[in-house]
Amino acid sequence: MTPTLFICVNRRRGAGSCSGGGAYEVMAVLRTEIEARGLGWDIRLSPCLGHCALGPNIKASPNGPLLHGCTDGKEVMARLLEWRRG
Ligand code: FES
Repeated sequence: MTPTLFICVNRRRGAGSCSGGGAYEVMAVLRTEIEARGLGWDIRLSPCLGHCALGPNIKASPNGPLLHGCTDGKEVMARLLEWRRG
C-alpha cells in the first residue's frame, strides 16, 4: 500500500498551530524529497490531529507514526524512511 502522509495544516487563532509553526514549508520540502527519490508517496492536508502544542504534526499511514515537532523537512524525511525500513 502506498504510504500517505497526513500533514496538519490547521490554524488556530491566538494559539499555537501546525500551520503557524511551518507545516506548509515542511510539506514543500517533503514533496521535493519524495519526488527526488521517486517514492510516489501521497501527501494530504489534514485538519487538526489533536496535538497542537507539539506541532507541526504529521501522521504517516498505513500504521505509521504520528510525528511531532516537524519543523525540519529533511529530518522528517529521514524519520519516515526509517519507519519504512522497519
Ligand atoms: S493544529 Fe495541528 S494538531 Fe492541532
